[in-house]
Amino acid sequence: MREVNSAGRPWFVAMGLLASCSAWAVTVSPESVSMPSGESRTIKIGKVSGTLAVTNSSPAVASLTRVDASTYRISGSAAGKAEVKFKDAKSDVKVKVIVTASTPTPPSPTGALNGRLLASNCFQCHGTSGTGGFDRLAGKSATEIYGELREFASGKEDANGIMAAHAMGFSDAQLKSIASYFASVR
Ligand code: HEC
Repeated sequence: MREVNSAGRPWFVAMGLLASCSAWAVTVSPESVSMPSGESRTIKIGKVSGTLAVTNSSPAVASLTRVDASTYRISGSAAGKAEVKFKDAKSDVKVKVIVTASTPTPPSPTGALNGRLLASNCFQCHGTSGTGGFDRLAGKSATEIYGELREFASGKEDANGIMAAHAMGFSDAQLKSIASYFASVR
């Protein structure tokens, strides 16, 4: 029995050391983040012994900012991978960062496309680019065109004419988007 005891002791001591080490190891959560560029995530740090050294493998992919002693913010700048290492006196933890390409913003419903769609009601008389048939619209500013449309819509100008009938059929926002469509075509 003596042999087992003396052989077992150093091993037992080593296990105890390991256990106490991991109890004090720096904790980082989460240990991996994935986000589209332009967004940011929070990383929580705990159980730091001594000073914490932070290294970022790819600052061009993700930038790291310290919020307070236990909070860091990581923001994606470009698609790619980065590895952030948090190292204190006793241990280190690596955080894997994956930044994906940012999701493109869908075109707004009142944007250029909608303007063109609404303006197609005018094409038969003013041409697709505002240069055909009746009065020329191309070359005017959006404010000018909108102003004229408002005059027709309010009945101030040619209340019984073709244009009044047309302008009255649209909401104010729609007239604005039609006007900016014609101002944008050349
Ligand atoms: C059926 C033909 C017709 C359609 C469709 C039409 N217009 Fe006209 N538009 C005219 C005519 C004709 C005039 C000339 C003057 C008038 O009636 O006072 C005119 C004049 C204008 C003017 C004033 C130009 C100026 O120099 O004074 C603007 C602005 C205008 N239209 C914009 C539009 C827009 C925008 C639309 C579509 C929402 C449209 N029009 C649809 C026939 C049309």
